[in-house]
Amino acid sequence: MRVLVLFAHPAQRKSSINLAMADVARRVDDLTFVDLYEEYPRFQINIDREQKRLLDHDVIVFQFPIYWYSTPSLLKEWQDLVLEYGFAYGPQGKLLADKFALISVTTGGRETDYSATGGNNYPLRQFLLPLQQTATLCGMKFLPPFVLHAANHIGTPEAQRHVASYGALLSLITTNQLDLDEAMTRDTIFPADLPIMAEH
Ligand SMILES: Cc1cc2nc3c(=O)[nH]c(=O)nc-3n(C[C@H](O)[C@H](O)[C@H](O)COP(=O)(O)O)c2cc1C
Repeated sequence: MRVLVLFAHPAQRKSSINLAMADVARRVDDLTFVDLYEEYPRFQINIDREQKRLLDHDVIVFQFPIYWYSTPSLLKEWQDLVLEYGFAYGPQGKLLADKFALISVTTGGRETDYSATGGNNYPLRQFLLPLQQTATLCGMKFLPPFVLHAANHIGTPEAQRHVASYGALLSLITTNQLDLDEAMTRDTIFPADLPIMAEH
């Protein structure tokens, strides 16, 4: 599987976890890593280049910290400009069909905050619905998200485990060892219970 990681974090000098995750992703063999804020600090997105990148890959990973229950703004700009009519959707626009989309997201809120009785009132999946439906409209397969909750509150061991799991997950995908269709049937991508291909 050809994997593209699109990383969006506007405040990297303050990042405690996404930078470490990005470093691990960058080192995975045969994976394309793009730091969107580094490439487009002035939001001048090269639409042709981004569309070509999408065409050249099978799995598109969107890695970001959740900001105001959504993506950082450059990733929204990217969606608005790159997922054009006639390219990503519309009668002639099926060029992303059957590619996989994977969200790798960190949250400040704890898992319990993302519930009817928690401070955020709704499960995290609810806040990811615009991304899910965007992918679905484009004919993409939206994988369950890879999530780290309470990213600012966990200890070093847990953070290190998550970073290592992210690297392992990306490696498994690039080497075709993860059963992505089986993963589609699950609620989350849980590192301890990844659907590994039977023959491996
Ligand atoms: C502008 C801003 C908005 C944020 N909005 C949310 C939010 O809506 N929900 C949430 O759980 N955390 C929110 N957070 C916390 C971040 O998601 C958290 O700091 C990040 O995931 C930690 O990863 P990092 O250390 O790599 O930045 C927000 C943080 C900032 C700076």
